[in-house]
Amino acid sequence: MFFMKKNAGPRQEMVIPAHIGIIMDGNGRWAKKRGLPRKAGHRYGAKAMEEICKYARDIGVRYLTLYAFSTENWKRPQDEVDSIMNLLRNYLKDITNHQKEEIRTKFIGDRSGLAPDIVALMEEAEEKGAHFDKLTVNFAINYGGRDEIVHAVREIGKKIQDGALQPSDIDEQTLEDFLYTAGQPAPDLIIRPSGEFRTSNFMVWQSAYSELVFMDVLWPDFGPKDLDRAIEEYSRRNRRFGGV
Ligand code: IPE
Ligand code: IPE
Ligand code: MG
Repeated sequence: MFFMKKNAGPRQEMVIPAHIGIIMDGNGRWAKKRGLPRKAGHRYGAKAMEEICKYARDIGVRYLTLYAFSTENWKRPQDEVDSIMNLLRNYLKDITNHQKEEIRTKFIGDRSGLAPDIVALMEEAEEKGAHFDKLTVNFAINYGGRDEIVHAVREIGKKIQDGALQPSDIDEQTLEDFLYTAGQPAPDLIIRPSGEFRTSNFMVWQSAYSELVFMDVLWPDFGPKDLDRAIEEYSRRNRRFGGV
C-alpha cells in the first residue's frame, strides 16, 4: 500500500532531481524467478545500471548514487561475493565506456576492504573522468552509511588531536565535509526497487530530507520508464524541510 501507484494522478511537469540515489536491489530474486544462478541476476543488474546512467545524464540529473555493494554484503556466500567483485573488475576495465558517455565516475565506501587491483582501477577511472561535468555517478561499493559517519568522526578526531579543530567548532557542515560525498548536494530522491521498504544503511546522514520512492520492480528489469515514474512521483511531492 505504500508502493507508488501506477498512473497515480495526472501527469505533470517533471521536476528533475539534482541528485538521485538508487538502491539497486532484487538481482537475486530476478534470477531465481528464471531458474538462473544469483550471479546471472547481478550480470543483468549491471546492464540495467549502464542504461540508467546514460538516461540520467540525458535528462539532466547532476548526481546519481548507485548502491552496488554494502558493508553488510560480505555476509553472503563467498562465491557470490567473488562473482560481484569480478563483475566490478570487468566493469572497471571497460570504464572507457563511461568516458565515451562523458560521465564522471566516483567511488564511495571503504576502499581498504577491497582488493588492491580493484582500488587501482577505481582510482584510474576517477582520474580519467574527472573533467566531465554533466553527470557524476557515485558508485557505492563496500559502502555503509553508518561506516561513513564513523569514518568522518575518526577524521575529525585526528584534526582535534592535531590541534587543528576545537570540539566546539564542530557543526553539521564539519561532518558533511568528511563524508564520501563532501561537496555534493544531498540526494533529493532515493529509489528502492524490489519491493522492500527499507534503506539498508544507504546514505544515512544525507537522506535526512530525501524523498523516498519504493517500487515493485526487480533491479534487472528497471529501465528508463521506471525512472520516469519515480521522478513523476517525486514531482508530485511537497517538500517542506520542516517549514510550512
Ligand atoms: C542487489 O540484489 C545486489 C546486491 C546487494 C549486491 P540482491 O542480490 O540483494 O537481490 P535479492 O534482494 O536477493 O533479490
Ligand atoms: C542493499 O540491498 C544493498 C545493495 C543494493 C547494494 P540488500 O539486499 O543487501 O539489503 P537487505 O539485506 O535486503 O536489507
Ligand atoms: Mg537484496
